[in-house]
Amino acid sequence: MDRLEGKVALVTGAGSGIGKSSAMRFAAEGASVMCLDLDESAAQGTAAAIAEGGGSSAALVVDVSVEEEVKASCEKTVRELGGLDVLMNNAGIGRAEWDVTIAINLSGVYYGLLHGGALMAERGGGSIISTASIAGLVGLVSSRVTEFPPVDGSGAYIAAKHGVVGLTRQFSLIYAQHDVRVNAIAPGYIRTPLINETLEDLEAVYNLESLHPMGRLGEPEEIAAAAAFLASDDASFITGITLPVDGGYTAR
Ligand SMILES: NC(=O)c1ccc[n+]([C@@H]2O[C@H](COP(=O)([O-])OP(=O)(O)OC[C@H]3O[C@@H](n4cnc5c(N)ncnc54)[C@H](O)[C@@H]3O)[C@@H](O)[C@H]2O)c1
Repeated sequence: MDRLEGKVALVTGAGSGIGKSSAMRFAAEGASVMCLDLDESAAQGTAAAIAEGGGSSAALVVDVSVEEEVKASCEKTVRELGGLDVLMNNAGIGRAEWDVTIAINLSGVYYGLLHGGALMAERGGGSIISTASIAGLVGLVSSRVTEFPPVDGSGAYIAAKHGVVGLTRQFSLIYAQHDVRVNAIAPGYIRTPLINETLEDLEAVYNLESLHPMGRLGEPEEIAAAAAFLASDDASFITGITLPVDGGYTAR
């Protein structure tokens, strides 16, 4: 499929997992991709993989929790790759202290919506996809996140991801008249380095699998496929939604 032919995409957290798969999928569908990550070699690795496959790409080292850096990265994408049609606010971390989690998983997305969206609106439109989580729709029950007594950061991931769902709704309204569509994806548990610790514990994996009615964890390519759909004109009348891609996790 070449649904993104001639488009320019900026993907945050493109060095690993869901961001890497999405960057590669966008490129496979014809987009030039700016691969942004805090980890320089990871960002360059994804950009190189795209180039090896014959695609167009560049790499950028940015911390999404720093507003000016996010704003500058959107402007740099336009300067270097000639546009900004798709923005995937995807960079994120797992369990950490409250302030750190909110700064990266919530403020980082907000800065992308604010500055990337405004730039897209000025340029005539675009599509923004933010990676929320099932943790943006429901509380999580796996034992590691329900520890009592609560520790610093308890609930921060849930708060940040619920915030992403809310920001998605609000910014879809802000940009609706400017042809910038704003959506989110809510993945179930996906096999990426983010949950490496859990993946090493077979019993924990079994427990997580059993929470998904389809009886398995997801693969990053399955999130990338949904992201490519939302990025493309196939989703031309879709804005303000959070699409669960979770093997039925939130259906119960
Ligand atoms: N893996 C899952 O089960 C799962 C489920 C639901 C949602 N998510 C969300 O998906 C997104 C991607 O996660 P993943 O599973 O691919 O994880 P990952 O750890 O494989 O990739 C995350 C990437 O983000 C980068 N990153 C971290 N902090 C950053 C910062 N401040 N600035 C720029 N880049 C930064 C990391 O270097 C890494 O390359 C996250 O927002 C995560 O919360 C993951």
